[in-house]
Amino acid sequence: MAKRSALAIILAAGEGTRMKSATPKVLHHVGGLPMLGHVLRAVAASGIEDIAVVVGPNADAVSGFVAKAAPKATTHVQGERLGTAHAVLAAREAIARGAEDVLVLYADTPLVTAKTMMRIREALADHPLVFPGFRPFSPTGYGRLILDGGRVTAIREEKDASEEERKIGYVWPGIAGFRSDGFVAMLKQIGNTNAKGEYYLTDLVELANRGGKSVGTLEIDADEVSGVNDRQQLSHAEGLFQKVMREAAMADGATLKAPSTVWFSYDTKIGRDVTIEPNVFFGPGVTVGDNVTIRANSHIEGATIAPGAIIGPFARLRPGAVIGADVHVGNFVEVKNATLGEGAKANHLTYIGDADIGAKTNVGAGTITANYDGFDKYRTVVGEGVSIGSNSVLVAPVNVGDGANVAAGSVIVHDVPADALAVARGRQEDKPGWARKFREKKLAEKAARKK
Ligand code: UD1
Ligand code: MG
Repeated sequence: MAKRSALAIILAAGEGTRMKSATPKVLHHVGGLPMLGHVLRAVAASGIEDIAVVVGPNADAVSGFVAKAAPKATTHVQGERLGTAHAVLAAREAIARGAEDVLVLYADTPLVTAKTMMRIREALADHPLVFPGFRPFSPTGYGRLILDGGRVTAIREEKDASEEERKIGYVWPGIAGFRSDGFVAMLKQIGNTNAKGEYYLTDLVELANRGGKSVGTLEIDADEVSGVNDRQQLSHAEGLFQKVMREAAMADGATLKAPSTVWFSYDTKIGRDVTIEPNVFFGPGVTVGDNVTIRANSHIEGATIAPGAIIGPFARLRPGAVIGADVHVGNFVEVKNATLGEGAKANHLTYIGDADIGAKTNVGAGTITANYDGFDKYRTVVGEGVSIGSNSVLVAPVNVGDGANVAAGSVIVHDVPADALAVARGRQEDKPGWARKFREKKLAEKAARKK
């Protein structure tokens, strides 16, 4: 079958009042990415390059997100929120670009897959319209598909459905396919005489049937098309998404000690023979190499971890952390915008920010890179095989040469030459017998008071 050209129209103009939020509904995150971003990614993965996004008036945040996430997509403003059919018509100019098939998707259905889009496109070979269905745990709120044989004769919205119709468990998930021939003409025929007074996209089904066009359907897995209208449903979608990510990580050869306590982002990449202990959170932009162990209670975002490293427990890797092979980052260590060379260690209570730490260097407990003077950030560069003593402060900008030692408790404010020892603290002075004399004096005073 020769592939027909396709346009994807994504509806993202909903105010989402039930979210009770200053953020537009479709920009709420699932797995660290706005819901709209998930739909854009799935569309791209299905091979559709022609994309139109329908946004509401004053939806600069939504348009701005589209410009970044899918620069080739066009955005179309739906001036008034008059219903889903009206919203699709707002993208009329995109339809006029001439694609043979049109896929309509709702941005509040974030887990829809590329595979489903491809199935719908295949079904368009047999039917000019395809409205898939799914069977949710509860059909409340969804449009019910009314079937006759294998074909759809109508979709009834919750508010317009009869008692009998509401019992139907097979409902519409908010994704449909159309041959573009006559599509706009049909959309224009849709009226708004229904319970909500809106122009329903779902009315196309009855219109098509009247015009002698067949409407096909195919069943989609319920987990894939869970719609989000409120925060309860948002958390449900998040849970489903995390389940998919955890299963994928394990299928690819990672051990998750307690899968339900590990949180992934949409783009987390995990290598083979990685072990992840309980309560680990991955923000966006993390790549974990093979044979890495991530110990319990670590928070990791925007970080790259090379093979063999051990992270945590209780480690925090922030954006720009580049962890070399076999590095150890231990408890209560924070790394930001910094590289740690192969085999380097920072095992306890340390902040490494805006720094380069050389291979095999040991950063002692309590070391701090002082990278910020309240206005600008500066870099600390530490060479290879360096030993930084505990409780040192490296005041950037500063360099510590290869093989140098920094004595514990030092405040390093200028460069340390290679192989040197830098001591930058008060010199120790011992007063022989002082403590004994002090003790005896105090004990005598106390005894005198008791008499
Ligand atoms: C809609 C469907 C329902 C389906 C359900 C699946 C209609 C009439 N109803 O109901 O059959 O089972 O989705 O989740 O289509 N939007 C606009 N402009 C508008 C109205 C909506 O862009 O004027 C967008 C929203 O941003 C949202 C999508 O269209 O992404 C669906 O709108 P929503 O109000 O959530 O419809 P549902 O009541 O969920
Ligand atoms: Mg909805």
